[in-house]
Amino acid sequence: APIQPPDLSKCGPATNLNTGQQLDYNCCPPVTNRIIDYQLPRPTVMRFRPSAHLVTKDYIFKYNRAVELMKALPADDPRNYTQQANIHCAYCNGAYDQVGFQDLDIQVHNCWLFFPFHRWYLYFYERILGNLIGDPTFGLPFWNWDNPQGMTIPPMFNNSRSAIYDEKRNQNHLTSIIDLGYNGTDSGNTPLQTVGNNLNIMYSEMIRNVKVIEDFMGQPYRAGDAVNPGPGTSERGSHTAVHIWGGDPRQPSGENLGNFYSAGRDSLFYSHHANVDRMWKLWRDLRGSNPKDFTDRDWLNASFVFYDENARLVRVKVSDSVSNERMGYVFQKVDIPWLNNRP
Ligand code: C2O
Repeated sequence: APIQPPDLSKCGPATNLNTGQQLDYNCCPPVTNRIIDYQLPRPTVMRFRPSAHLVTKDYIFKYNRAVELMKALPADDPRNYTQQANIHCAYCNGAYDQVGFQDLDIQVHNCWLFFPFHRWYLYFYERILGNLIGDPTFGLPFWNWDNPQGMTIPPMFNNSRSAIYDEKRNQNHLTSIIDLGYNGTDSGNTPLQTVGNNLNIMYSEMIRNVKVIEDFMGQPYRAGDAVNPGPGTSERGSHTAVHIWGGDPRQPSGENLGNFYSAGRDSLFYSHHANVDRMWKLWRDLRGSNPKDFTDRDWLNASFVFYDENARLVRVKVSDSVSNERMGYVFQKVDIPWLNNRP
């Protein structure tokens, strides 16, 4: 059977997975009894997600304005910035049990729910921001870390006076080339070597190391299963490397980007994940006539709950998340240099 959405009224303490200690921080969302089955609205105008390195001053202003407004919402409004960050903590740090299995947590990482969960999460985050600035075309910026032109923290995130700034980042990495193979120590490679390695990593996790759908999407995870059956290439590779590379080693536990419970507090998280989301789209496009999606009902009918831009609690299904176009957004087209990076 598919994973069911959590019962918000049973949300409990979360665990810092980096240390195994219980968090003395409550990341549970507001509770309501009214749950609406979400219908994807028919897109009228597409939202446009730009490369974060290529945006205009006007866009940066607009995005910051939206985040300011999100931060200014009442603390108990589920659309509030901290509440949005807490979504990641609740779904990823063991605050929810599986419905019907008190001994089993819900964990959306390290399994086939990774891409669909994060897509839905960003979908509502984006709609809330767009709503706050009255712009139904607003799209999140993606951090194009798979392209040499995007392999640094996008400059707009380094403005310490802006709403999207976060001081809890690795101070040695603010302007350096990202290492998509990072696991906690700087490699000592030259920037040119790092770029080359990054492109090889991308080619491997998008093409060379992927034969069957599970290889990319992650392993099956159904109702009654233990957490962490296994991540796909992209989640395990570039995705995790960017988190660890971005987290602040001065903090006790990799905060913010480098720990599940805190990652959503850094606005960079949403641009990182917008690119992870883009990888799902690119990978599907690369499949040609090979199957792109699991046909297993336990994947298609797996579901989550989120608060939408009108603060209504909605139940969403994995099957409604397979096409970004059907969800009403597209990505800026940029070069994909790793495509031809067959070693
Ligand atoms: Cu839910 Cu990048 O982690």
